[in-house]
Amino acid sequence: APTEGLLVVSNREPYSHSYDGDEIVVDRPVGGLTAGLDPVMQRASGTWIAWGDGDADREVVDDEDRIRVPPEDPSYTLKRIWLDDDEIEEYYYGYSNQVLWPLCHSDRGRVTYEPRFWHRYREVNERFAEAASREARPGSLVWFQDYHFGLAPKMVRDRLGDDVTLAHFWHIPWPTWDDFRVCPQSEQLMDGLLANDLLGFHVGRFCAQFLEGVEACFDDAVVDWDSGVVHRGDSPTLVKPFPMGVDAERIERLAGSEQADEFWDSFREERGIADDAVVAVGVDRLDYTKGIPERIRAIEYFLDEHPEYRGEFVYVQKASESRSEIPAYQEIQREVSAVAERVNERFGTDDWKPVVSVTEMLPAEALYGLYRHADLALVSSVRDGMNLVAEEYVAAQLDNEGALVLSDFAGVDETLGDYAYTINPYATEAFAETIRRTITDSATERRNRMRQMRQLVTAYDLDAWMDDIFETVAELRSESADVG
Ligand code: G6P
Repeated sequence: APTEGLLVVSNREPYSHSYDGDEIVVDRPVGGLTAGLDPVMQRASGTWIAWGDGDADREVVDDEDRIRVPPEDPSYTLKRIWLDDDEIEEYYYGYSNQVLWPLCHSDRGRVTYEPRFWHRYREVNERFAEAASREARPGSLVWFQDYHFGLAPKMVRDRLGDDVTLAHFWHIPWPTWDDFRVCPQSEQLMDGLLANDLLGFHVGRFCAQFLEGVEACFDDAVVDWDSGVVHRGDSPTLVKPFPMGVDAERIERLAGSEQADEFWDSFREERGIADDAVVAVGVDRLDYTKGIPERIRAIEYFLDEHPEYRGEFVYVQKASESRSEIPAYQEIQREVSAVAERVNERFGTDDWKPVVSVTEMLPAEALYGLYRHADLALVSSVRDGMNLVAEEYVAAQLDNEGALVLSDFAGVDETLGDYAYTINPYATEAFAETIRRTITDSATERRNRMRQMRQLVTAYDLDAWMDDIFETVAELRSESADVG
């Protein structure tokens, strides 16, 4: 099985250890990648290589920097890589998050490039490639995650040759060639990625944009558009969409738990949310790609145009601060608080606030309870690889009652777009009208849409996604065995 000897390489670790006074506590970071892959790894065993960023991470590892996780019921090995301050600044905050992140989200205006960012990115890719090569055995599958490791596949291939299978999943969008060629190292990065046997994106459009880039960039590359295979050099690369799913069963179970209801009851009481209020929910990492100010402006417009909903409509926002050292993120944090405050000042009364912000960490039961009881979810990304929040919200609708308002610009629109209430986050008037429609549409209409979406989310869940990828790897292996 391809999962035997599975090695996952990602920047962010699934568990980090930190000090709480003298005590060491375990945190689980926010973000789609680690939340999605942890259950995959629990089932597959194997080893996950990632940056140990917790301030107590070094205290709990063995001589080889390893620790068994999940802490409460260990089933796989986490191997930690240490990064010093310069590496964090230049590789993580620099090249990864001020060059590749904005570029892949087609946001040239937020790109900040410095030569030292690139040099460090290459160095850190070497370090991870070295670690992966040391852990790998003949026949291993090395599975790279995301934009932090554009070069590592080639570095591992150069070390280990065809003894290993290399796969990569790129969790964020791949832009058009016209956008990607802004990157000073577009060619090196695509060359690095083409060392993979398999390169996955969430949706077909990102695959096509990658393949167009390959054709434009390399004279010696031949793209077979029917199969999605790139021929260049010795080994072909299959480029294929795998729309990521969520662990729908677990979400259903937690959303239906007693703790979920208890949380919701006490939350509503604490925040003064009336029994019959229409509750909308938004859950995001605080990122400029998520369209949060656009969303709050649409809510403002909605309350302006439809004063009858004042006092009735509450937007619960759970936004987790992220990458706060980067000026563009400080700016979006300020902007989001400013718009939220303005809307609350304009409309709020003694016993009603339209925007309720949740800043504390929520246990899974509480989050899924919030999803379950919210009448609608607002996912308004201006660009997004997939957006697993949309799928989690759908999975939590045990009674098929909620409505999903979904941006056209999130990858998940390709799977759920036919049944969600779709919007363009910049089209404030239409966005506001769509919010209203989710409330005024008949319960039957809402339920029909939700039922269809739940079927999709349950059928193509996280297990199916993983099986799909591992089966594709197995097929590639048997093909290359036939040839070799
Ligand atoms: C996105 C990226 C992930 C990343 C996550 C959280 O989902 O695709 O690679 O881990 O955001 O961001 P962070 O920079 O905190 O790891």
